[in-house]
Amino acid sequence: MKRPPPLFLLRFLFLWPLLVVPALSQSPPQPKGFLVNCGSTDDLFTPDGLRWLADSSFVSAGSPRKLSLPGLLPVLSTLRSFPVRPGLPQPRKFCYVLRAGRGARYLIRTTYFYGSFDSPGGSGTPPVFDQIVDGTFWTTVNTTADYAAGVASYYEGVFRAKGMTMSVCVAENTYTTSDLFISALEMILLEDSVYNGTNFDEYAMGLIARSTFGSIGSSLRYPDDRFNRYWQPFSGSAHAMTSTHNISSSDFWNLPPAMIFNTALVADKAKPLVFQWPPNLLPSSSYYIALYFADTLPGSTRTFNVYVNDYSFQADLTVTSAGLVVFATQWFLSGLTTITLTPGSPLPPLISAGEVFGLFSIGNVTHTRDIIALEKIKKNIANPPSDWSGDPCMPEQYSWTGITCSNGSKIRVVALNLSSMSLSGSLSPVIARMTALTYMTNSRSKQIKESSEIAFTEQSVNRSHSSITGKSESAT
Ligand SMILES: *[C@@H]1O[C@H](CO)[C@@H](O)[C@H](O)[C@H]1NC(C)=O
Ligand SMILES: *[C@@H]1O[C@H](CO)[C@@H](O)[C@H](O)[C@H]1NC(C)=O
Ligand SMILES: *[C@@H]1O[C@H](CO)[C@@H](O)[C@H](O)[C@H]1NC(C)=O
Ligand SMILES: *[C@@H]1O[C@H](CO)[C@@H](O)[C@H](O)[C@H]1NC(C)=O
Ligand SMILES: *[C@@H]1O[C@H](CO)[C@@H](O)[C@H](O)[C@H]1NC(C)=O
Ligand SMILES: *[C@@H]1O[C@H](CO)[C@@H](O)[C@H](O)[C@H]1NC(C)=O
Ligand SMILES: *[C@@H]1O[C@H](CO)[C@@H](O)[C@H](O)[C@H]1NC(C)=O
Repeated sequence: MKRPPPLFLLRFLFLWPLLVVPALSQSPPQPKGFLVNCGSTDDLFTPDGLRWLADSSFVSAGSPRKLSLPGLLPVLSTLRSFPVRPGLPQPRKFCYVLRAGRGARYLIRTTYFYGSFDSPGGSGTPPVFDQIVDGTFWTTVNTTADYAAGVASYYEGVFRAKGMTMSVCVAENTYTTSDLFISALEMILLEDSVYNGTNFDEYAMGLIARSTFGSIGSSLRYPDDRFNRYWQPFSGSAHAMTSTHNISSSDFWNLPPAMIFNTALVADKAKPLVFQWPPNLLPSSSYYIALYFADTLPGSTRTFNVYVNDYSFQADLTVTSAGLVVFATQWFLSGLTTITLTPGSPLPPLISAGEVFGLFSIGNVTHTRDIIALEKIKKNIANPPSDWSGDPCMPEQYSWTGITCSNGSKIRVVALNLSSMSLSGSLSPVIARMTALTYMTNSRSKQIKESSEIAFTEQSVNRSHSSITGKSESAT
């Protein structure tokens, strides 16, 4: 299988607001899911009312690190690093594994602030590496430019949980020359209606931009956004307008925070509104686009046409102060994107907010039967290799150390090399369930030939000759 193109090399600048957001009395509850403060040994409560968890119960690989830079936000001041060992035959991935509801949809955000953690003089260069979710390549992480600008980087995506857990991994790639790291990981449960136009059985979405138009200052997030989505100010060159609105955002499937309707970009009278958004150059692909509108004047109505790159996105859109959203689940974009609103009524067109995500295909995952067996084997290994978490086989080339997998539609484990791993306990019933396994090595059997504890007294078990039963290929 060809490695998917690194679609979303995009970085998102952000500085967390230094101002303390007063916890509002009617704050929504803490978002459901996990906010993990990587590298921290204690839970952390931030002024916005969020609780960040210590990370040791979600990850076994890597080492916690502390940065001591003055003024650094607490969430960014710890990180977990993972050792890179050049010369290994294949790249490795290191995963956080989080409990999930099967079939549920999650916002996943990873945050990186390098802080020269591996070069005490502060002279280091951030590593470049990949991110993987459940065996699917997501993006390449390159925080170099952000770090030079003194800010952290974040990446956000929307994924559906295929099983009872989800894994989020950092992984070596050909550019990786120093230790990998991660500062924070969030996995937040989204309500069913949010982004529900997308078929998450086939696709995941990677955020390109989420903007509140006509707004300046700090970004909107929890508690204004109940899922802690970040809405970044975008003022562009057009006219910004503010108002105080009373919109009930529960009318919108994507449940945007009502505050996004308090600002807008507004055209000059009788003129079209034209602006470039998102600001990044985009690779040719399909994108999800949602645009949010509300008339800033109470009781008023205006009609206009919406174009994206000269293609009609929505004709004769009538916007009232009640607000509305229009979205496209798969819209082709390439290079720079221009949004154009042309007037169709005396009042000039306006726009409140927008979101654009790139769509990418979900990769295949290892057969459940083999995953279950490997988890049992892992329990019988005193010190399993540090990359034994996440999907055992996928993405291709990122299989666990000692494991060889089949290619194609059904991903099965075809060979196991457990030599140099200290096994204990009997594994035969477990191995018997790995019905695609044809080859296995276990050097320890040489050392303790007499031990009946070890199921494998041959150095190699070739299933074509062995008596291990259970060849049936029935799916579990
Ligand atoms: C990472 O980003 C920096 C700054 O934008 C760029 O110079 C460098 O080529 C990038 N590295 C890779 C491997 O893409
Ligand atoms: C999305 O959710 C809304 C609100 O629950 C519902 O009315 C709509 O039919 C859903 N759309 C799809 C494609 O499932
Ligand atoms: C918003 O509308 C609700 C219900 O219509 C009303 O109770 C509330 O006072 C309004 N708030 C403002 C700020 O106008
Ligand atoms: C899977 O494909 C890759 C490259 O296409 C190849 O190197 C590898 O040997 C294949 N694995 C098996 C088990 O066939
Ligand atoms: C998963 O397997 C199916 C069936 O062979 C194949 O059509 C599809 O391309 C695979 N998906 C990926 C992302 O490789
Ligand atoms: C099994 O792994 C060990 C190192 O862990 C290596 O020396 C050996 O060559 C491997 N055996 C096979 C058959 O791949
Ligand atoms: C397993 O047995 C088959 C059938 O005799 C043979 O073709 C294959 O080479 C053997 N594989 C290994 C790894 O010994």
